[in-house]
Amino acid sequence: ATPIPAPNAPSCGTATISDGPEVPYTCCPPGMPEDIEKILYYKFPSATKLRIRQPAHAVDEELIAKYNLAISKMRELDTTDHFSPLAFKQQANIHCAYCNGAYKIGGKELQVHNSWLFFPFHRWYLYFYERILGKLIDDPTFALPYWNWDHPKGMRLPPIFDRQGTALYDERRSTQVRNGTVMDLGSFGDKVQTTQLQLMSNNLTLMYRQMVTNAPCPLFILWRTLRSWEITLKPQETVEVIPHIPVHIWVGTARGSKFPDGSTSYGEDMGNFYSAGLDPVFYCHHSNVDRMWNEWKQIGGKRRDISQRDWLNSEFFFFDENKNPYRVRVRDCLDTKTMGYDYAPMPTPWRNFKP
Ligand code: C2O
Repeated sequence: ATPIPAPNAPSCGTATISDGPEVPYTCCPPGMPEDIEKILYYKFPSATKLRIRQPAHAVDEELIAKYNLAISKMRELDTTDHFSPLAFKQQANIHCAYCNGAYKIGGKELQVHNSWLFFPFHRWYLYFYERILGKLIDDPTFALPYWNWDHPKGMRLPPIFDRQGTALYDERRSTQVRNGTVMDLGSFGDKVQTTQLQLMSNNLTLMYRQMVTNAPCPLFILWRTLRSWEITLKPQETVEVIPHIPVHIWVGTARGSKFPDGSTSYGEDMGNFYSAGLDPVFYCHHSNVDRMWNEWKQIGGKRRDISQRDWLNSEFFFFDENKNPYRVRVRDCLDTKTMGYDYAPMPTPWRNFKP
């Protein structure tokens, strides 16, 4: 395979938000360069203090206030400067463009999911999102909290997202996520009758299975599909599918249900690629997905990044917090400390939940 090049303006067209009868949606970034070859590769700003991402269920009032302020400033841009790449909806549209078929590369739809681009794409996406939030509140150490769903204390919607009327709240969520309900990390919608305690312990066993048993080497966690000729892997064995997707489905409205205005749900917000980024909890969810990549490498054995150049040299396009366009490479996102951030450690009790 050849590396996937960064998309450019001519490669962006109309996206599709459903697989049934096609529903078109426009999400190409305004101001996207015509000639991507002319766009510089991103260089990390010289070392400042590491941004430390905290578990969202345990953040202090100061961070909650900053986070709310940053998100509300970003939301304000939707009305005052909606073509700004920093605006809330433009940030959400990044996910739509890369995931709902807006970009065509070499005549083929670019899709960063179900592939070895999944982890690096979302890492870069959050990287810039976090810097933009920090810039909006003038805090170069601002770090996105992570939704610590792999720990019993984090297996519910983090309370900071459940405060109606705040910037972190989203109306387009399933009501089942409210008021501290414990989630089932393995469910695609079905509900099993069980106790909270049992659910938590099932979740820990599931995490062990996905991170340890099912992921002994890179082929099994990071790089399926594009290398599918090398392996026969059931998709549900990957972290990308479980628990990543169940969390999306659990938070979003049920597909086919009705919104108060009478329109039909396509899973908004979290349950559809095009709208997932419209729920602030998306970035918090992906912060933990990203953390799992680090945690996985720490388990040891053959759990390390690969050296295939078609992966390392694949590229994405992003605007930074100063609205400058950049190309970024997979090879430059393998170490979060080099990128200027890290995760506040939390115990990983799933490591003791070998079935
Ligand atoms: Cu790009 Cu959680 O999906």
